[in-house]
Amino acid sequence: AATTRYEAELATYSAGSSVDTNHTGFSGTGFVNTGNAVGSYVQWTVNRSQAGPATLVFGHANGTSAIRSVDITVNGIVVAKGVPYPSTGGWTLWKTRVTTANLRAGSNTVRATATTVDGTANLDYLDV
Ligand code: GCU
Repeated sequence: AATTRYEAELATYSAGSSVDTNHTGFSGTGFVNTGNAVGSYVQWTVNRSQAGPATLVFGHANGTSAIRSVDITVNGIVVAKGVPYPSTGGWTLWKTRVTTANLRAGSNTVRATATTVDGTANLDYLDV
């Protein structure tokens, strides 16, 4: 099936996050710089025509040397715990990280929530 891109800057995100454009190479009109705190998140709404397994591809950059792990939840249930987002080599070096999960038909929420005090990596998009 075709992939749909869901831009982070069009998603919802925790208070203390911002949509930024200062690091080049992002998709769309910006990326989300979540607050540097445990619990910071970006949440996307993803529509599916059929229930079943899906490949969730998160575009991101981490310009620090610290691993910025996240929990991935789908419809409020943790489907991947402590997924490590290590350095991408710079804030302008965007990479992808893949998590597979079952989605339901219709609307789904997919959330990436920081588990470290650094917050998430800068998040650019979710491709499903
Ligand atoms: C820098 C960088 C931001 C990033 C932040 C962070 O300020 O410019 O894009 O989000 O560090 O450490 O989270």
